Amino acid sequence: MKNLKPVTSLSFLGALVNVSLAALTNLTLTGPANLPADASPPLNPSLASFSIETAFFVSYTGNISSPNPLTRSLLENLKNRTGVPAEVRIGGITADSTYWDGSLDTALFNFIDNQGALQNTTIGPQFWDAVRELLPEGTKITVNLDLQDLNFTGALEVATSAVEGLAPDQLVAFEIGNEPDHYLSFTPKSYTEIWRPWSVNISQALNITEPMFQLGATAEDPLWPYNTPAANAQLDCVSALAAGANDENTVRYCSEHTYQYSVCDPARTRVATLTNLVNHTRVAQYLDLWQPRINSVREQLGDDAFVIGEYNSVSCSGRNNVSNTFGQALWLLDTTFYAASINVSRLYIHQGGPLALQSATQLNHGGFSFYDLWWPVDNLNGPTQVFPSYSAYLFVTETLGISRNLRISNIFPGRQSNGSSITTALGDDSSGQLVVYGFWDESLPSGTDFPSKMALLNLQAYNATDATGERPSVTFDISNFLPSSDTVVTVRRLQAPGADIKAANATTWAGQTFAEGVASGEFVEEKVSNGLVEVEASGAALVILEL
Ligand SMILES: *[C@@H]1O[C@H](CO)[C@@H](O)[C@H](O)[C@H]1NC(C)=O
Ligand SMILES: *[C@@H]1O[C@H](CO)[C@@H](O)[C@H](O)[C@H]1NC(C)=O
Ligand SMILES: *[C@@H]1O[C@H](CO)[C@@H](O)[C@H](O)[C@H]1NC(C)=O
Ligand SMILES: *[C@@H]1O[C@H](CO)[C@@H](O)[C@H](O)[C@H]1NC(C)=O
Ligand SMILES: *[C@@H]1O[C@H](CO)[C@@H](O)[C@H](O)[C@H]1NC(C)=O
Ligand SMILES: *[C@@H]1O[C@H](CO)[C@@H](O)[C@H](O)[C@H]1NC(C)=O
Ligand SMILES: *[C@@H]1O[C@H](CO)[C@@H](O)[C@H](O)[C@H]1NC(C)=O
Ligand SMILES: *[C@@H]1O[C@H](CO)[C@@H](O)[C@H](O)[C@H]1NC(C)=O
Ligand SMILES: *[C@@H]1O[C@H](CO)[C@@H](O)[C@H](O)[C@H]1NC(C)=O
Ligand SMILES: *[C@@H]1O[C@H](CO)[C@@H](O)[C@H](O)[C@H]1NC(C)=O
Ligand SMILES: *[C@@H]1O[C@H](CO)[C@@H](O)[C@H](O)[C@H]1NC(C)=O
Ligand SMILES: *[C@@H]1O[C@H](CO)[C@@H](O)[C@H](O)[C@H]1NC(C)=O
Repeated sequence: MKNLKPVTSLSFLGALVNVSLAALTNLTLTGPANLPADASPPLNPSLASFSIETAFFVSYTGNISSPNPLTRSLLENLKNRTGVPAEVRIGGITADSTYWDGSLDTALFNFIDNQGALQNTTIGPQFWDAVRELLPEGTKITVNLDLQDLNFTGALEVATSAVEGLAPDQLVAFEIGNEPDHYLSFTPKSYTEIWRPWSVNISQALNITEPMFQLGATAEDPLWPYNTPAANAQLDCVSALAAGANDENTVRYCSEHTYQYSVCDPARTRVATLTNLVNHTRVAQYLDLWQPRINSVREQLGDDAFVIGEYNSVSCSGRNNVSNTFGQALWLLDTTFYAASINVSRLYIHQGGPLALQSATQLNHGGFSFYDLWWPVDNLNGPTQVFPSYSAYLFVTETLGISRNLRISNIFPGRQSNGSSITTALGDDSSGQLVVYGFWDESLPSGTDFPSKMALLNLQAYNATDATGERPSVTFDISNFLPSSDTVVTVRRLQAPGADIKAANATTWAGQTFAEGVASGEFVEEKVSNGLVEVEASGAALVILEL
């Protein structure tokens, strides 16, 4: 933990912020309180969605004769908060080796060779029964088809089976290929030359008359600066659109994948630490790389068109003691809200397990991933369990609620004229530890004058294992965002004994744990009437104005 030097005040975008950081004790937000110019359009109620690795899908849902009650319950909790289920994308690396067999007598079969490597996956009619019946009613599905084999017949068979097997209107998009920038030496042009006719032919074969395809699903981070020959040569949504991917009007959405850290090789493993993960400056620096692409895709295809269709904290299946901690919950909360604040429509957090031979030097082998929000079954890495990160999705869905008019903006550290919220030049004196988001709801009396909700994050590391002395905390003075300094607000908290906590039974959202999939314990919220909200180190709070 760093001691920060005291500072007086700093100003940007007309907003004055006073930071007194002798021991990082308080942060006064000085408004203005009205809807900022950079606010998002109304947030998508499925902002917090899921990507589930195809080969692991049935492990998550179970099958019709043996459904997985934990998965169902955890997903229903989220649906209950927004009225709309999280979306599910079925895909990932194994989608490029997934085949259809209409006579398969089980939902899914993984062919695992004698080296332990998953060679391919076969799905049958019972697979779609599970997708249709075992997710919360109304769950929208994106299906990732196999591109890597360059076998159109195989891709069309899987697409046809999805259309026939899912409920009407359940299928929202097909993806053709997962991370195609990692195989067949695709360029934007060579990719588009295959992608576009496939999307047209699949649409025709299945009598699909609306744009129904999600472009991209690419893995590589954008090069920076973005408008150089090398950056423009990258395969991504924007370069594929420029190469004519949507010339026949088949593109509905664009997806890119984000993994801020990795344990695929030792060099990246060294920086995949909890300290680096739980740091807003790093989150914003990373996601800001996508801002030009997000803007371009939204201009071409509409407000809801850019999604992070697969993401998590640490690629190659996460890292023990990093991505299975409460620290990841704070990272997930900040990542989801920050992405929403730069106009990403939905984020699909990836769930599954390590794949053998993904990299010769990968850290993880077997079992389920250390970044999963829960393990639906007992596995090599441990018993069935929920992880602290799940509670971050409760925070997000409860923030969204049933509003369809909620717009987000990052209030602190706030956005500079170049679109970044990293205030290096002006000095984010919290060193990426304090983050505030505002939410405005035009359908409420507070309208665009005041936020109806605020999210306060204190990312300062507090280690429960190594706890010494009193836990630090920060007092956020939000009175300038209230109609009156004595306006009563409600506060609900995301808490754990420390960032290193790995147990869901020690992680509380509004006082309740969700370790068994359902709320346990007394619901807790506070009323605050002086505009001062204290948030402990490694903690977060949702402030509700209720005007
Ligand atoms: C903020 O910190 C300063 C300096 O430590 C202190 O004088 C002041 O009382 C604090 N204000 C609040 C509201 O805690
Ligand atoms: C988000 O989109 C809205 C509306 O399209 C726009 O006004 C706003 O500036 C965008 N915000 C950012 C950070 O790009
Ligand atoms: C959530 O569940 C409660 C209790 O069953 C119910 O009263 C409420 O209407 C549900 N909310 C939504 C948005 O579905
Ligand atoms: C359903 O899942 C159970 C538990 O994994 C398994 O024993 C059973 O064989 C599966 N049924 C089918 C038809 O695949
Ligand atoms: C799956 O892989 C195995 C081993 O390489 C192979 O024998 C089998 O034909 C493959 N299955 C399909 C459907 O391609
Ligand atoms: C292409 O896929 C079809 C349908 O699964 C299969 O019958 C055929 O053998 C595949 N072709 C090749 C070259 O693998
Ligand atoms: C797509 O359809 C066109 C026109 O019918 C045909 O020429 C082409 O071979 C088809 N491509 C694939 C991959 O099936
Ligand atoms: C294709 O869809 C249109 C519009 O839904 C419908 O009128 C038509 O009958 C369908 N054709 C076939 C061959 O299914
Ligand atoms: C994880 O942390 C625990 C407790 O601090 C420690 O015993 C264990 O060795 C760590 N495991 C790894 C893989 O770092
Ligand atoms: C957060 O990350 C930024 C950028 O790497 C760094 O400058 C800052 O010191 C970090 N904050 C903490 C508390 O480590
Ligand atoms: C927490 O403290 C323990 C004991 O000092 C240490 O082993 C561990 O690495 C720390 N964890 C983190 C995430 O810093
Ligand atoms: C919490 O879960 C851990 C395993 O993750 C278990 O050892 C512990 O007993 C549980 N504590 C409570 C209070 O249930």
